[in-house]
Amino acid sequence: MGVKAMRIYRVKDYEQLSKVAANRIAAQVTLKPDSVLGVATGSTPVGMYENLVKMYEGGDLDFSQVTTINLDEYKGLGKESSQSYAYYMEEKLFSKVNLNRKRTFVPDGTEPDSEKACQAYNEVLHRVGPADIQVLGIGHDGHIGFNEPADYFPDETHCVALDEMTIQANKRFFESEAEVPGESYTMGIGTIMRAKSILLLVSGAEKAGILKKALYGPVTPGVPASILQFHPDVTVIADEEALKEIE
Ligand code: F6R
Repeated sequence: MGVKAMRIYRVKDYEQLSKVAANRIAAQVTLKPDSVLGVATGSTPVGMYENLVKMYEGGDLDFSQVTTINLDEYKGLGKESSQSYAYYMEEKLFSKVNLNRKRTFVPDGTEPDSEKACQAYNEVLHRVGPADIQVLGIGHDGHIGFNEPADYFPDETHCVALDEMTIQANKRFFESEAEVPGESYTMGIGTIMRAKSILLLVSGAEKAGILKKALYGPVTPGVPASILQFHPDVTVIADEEALKEIE
């Protein structure tokens, strides 16, 4: 297996990345209308969601039987908070296509008891999973979901303290750094690896170094995304900037 099981699609720029990613998801939903889509938030998939909404509006996509499972949510934030991932999904996708809300799942950030929140989400994932396709972005420190560098690969949903690097990267979405929640609930690496296929989206020069490490460096929990080298069906869609340290 190893890195050879990965397909790397080199695209020109973010616009093209967004179209290719949307086409991959559209193909999935068209061929299997009751697909389980593992979905991500952050800046990278925004353009993909825009393209999916356009396809839906044009009558080319039907989400009525689709289930979505989100990777993560900030602990302490609920869908009424504009920085929450539940709000993000509502704004970018859920409210704009014909998804059945009963089949959209995000960890419950408003549950203060971490154990309860994680257990509840694991029950959902056991019931509806595994994902047919899991969309991922990559953090500057190599995180996937909010699985930060660690000394082991966490299996299922857990509560994590966000790294300084992640807080710095995500503060752009908040009024001030102090408002970035210090913890989040995230799907575990084991669950991500049990997805039938993985779609990793990477854009921009500032991700070039970590992308190279993740795809070609040693597989280590110090670079959580490196575990993807062991997944049998990974598609990486990356733009020229993100791939500038590879080849
Ligand atoms: C988001 C998520 C994160 C992001 C990563 C990259 O649900 O799980 O792992 O994918 O932090 O974020 P962006 O795309 O904003 O660079």
